[in-house]
Parts: sequence; structure tokens; C-alpha cells
Amino acid sequence: MVTDVGTGGLDLLFRRRSIGRLVEPAPDESELGSILRAGAAAPDHGELRPWRFVVLRGQGKDEFGAVLADAYLQRVEAAGGEPVPAKLEKERTKLGRAPLVIVVCAVHRHDDKHPWDDQLGAANAAAQNILLAATALGYGSMWRTGDVATDARVKAAVGLGEHDAIVGFLYIGTPAEGQAKPPKEPVLDGLVEEWTAPQS
Ligand SMILES: Cc1cc2nc3c(=O)[nH]c(=O)nc-3n(C[C@H](O)[C@H](O)[C@H](O)COP(=O)(O)O)c2cc1C
Repeated sequence: MVTDVGTGGLDLLFRRRSIGRLVEPAPDESELGSILRAGAAAPDHGELRPWRFVVLRGQGKDEFGAVLADAYLQRVEAAGGEPVPAKLEKERTKLGRAPLVIVVCAVHRHDDKHPWDDQLGAANAAAQNILLAATALGYGSMWRTGDVATDARVKAAVGLGEHDAIVGFLYIGTPAEGQAKPPKEPVLDGLVEEWTAPQS
């Protein structure tokens, strides 16, 4: 099989896989600094820095679990439903799937020349840079979103307003036993074409 893994330093891109359960050790302070700087090195139209990175770990992570649980209860109430105890417990504990979670936020900058779509794109690029930096340092990671990412209460808890967005909860740590995955082998069949002008 033709493989790109190990080719020209690109192996990093293929080794990044979503790992559902991550444990200690997490990146140390110095590594975390490098990971966040990698995030801030993302392409950024207009250099607006339309992002913020909120670090959740230790007690902060536990306390944020309470925010997620409360947000779930309020979503259910607003929809006129009844909370499901197992779902409530999942919201409360889900940040426990990694020792470190980075909430990547897209912060809306008012700018006539650089639209929100570009700002959102920059924040998404920052998130991918963070995942790749974590991979380069030997850590596993996973990008997660779900209902919590668009919940106004969750957004408010990380200081965001209605015009801002959470682009992802990035879970980072060491793959738990049996969780490591092989590098990815992407298939491009049917996805690439070389454009030529229509013949008239
Ligand atoms: C914007 C975005 C949001 C994601 N949200 C979730 C999520 O909420 N839950 C989940 O299980 N995976 C989520 N993922 C991870 C994808 O499921 C994962 O990347 C995909 O299955 C491919 O696997 P790989 O990352 O190992 O290549 C998300 C990925 C992206 C890019």
C-alpha cells in the first residue's frame, strides 16, 4: 500500500487521530504554552486574533462539568421535557475523558474588511494547530462539539456573547490503554479534480 506516513515530515498529520479516552500525563506548563502558541500561529485574515483559548483542568474542569450539567437541565426545561438522569450525569462528568481540555473560542471582531466567516475559519485553523501541536509533543487529542458548543449558557461561562462561537472542546492527554489508533490513510477517490475551462 502507498502510504504518506513518514513522508517528508508529514507523518504528524496522519498520526493525529481522535482518541476518546485520555489520561495523565497531560502536557506540562511549558508544553501547554507551546501548544497554545501553535494555536495562535494559525492563518488569520486581517490579523484580528479572533480567538481565545480557555484552559480547563483540575478543579476548574470539575466546576465546568457543573456548568454543562446545569445547561443540559435548562435545555431540557426549555424544550418542555424531563431530564434523563444518565444524560445529566454524562454532562457532569464528560470533561473527565481527558486531563486537559482547551475550549477554542471564536471571538467576533467588528471589522469591515474581514468577515465573520474568515474569523471563524481562523479560529478553526487555530484548533487544528492545537491538535497537531499536541500530536507533535506525543499526546493524544480529540475535538468535540455537540449541543454544549452552541448553548448560550456554556458560551457565557467562557465569556462569550451571542455573536461569538465555541469552535471546539479539545481534549488532550495520553491515550488510555487500548485507545491508541494507527495513523490515518485518507482516500481521495472522487474528491479531487483538475479544473479545465468548459469547451465551447
Ligand atoms: C468540528 C468538529 C467537531 C467534532 N465533534 C465531535 C463530537 O462532538 N463528538 C465526537 O465523537 N467526535 C467529534 N469530532 C471528531 C470526529 O468525529 C473525528 O475527527 C472523525 O471521526 C475522524 O476521526 P480522526 O479524528 O481519528 O481522523 C469532531 C471533529 C470536528 C472537526
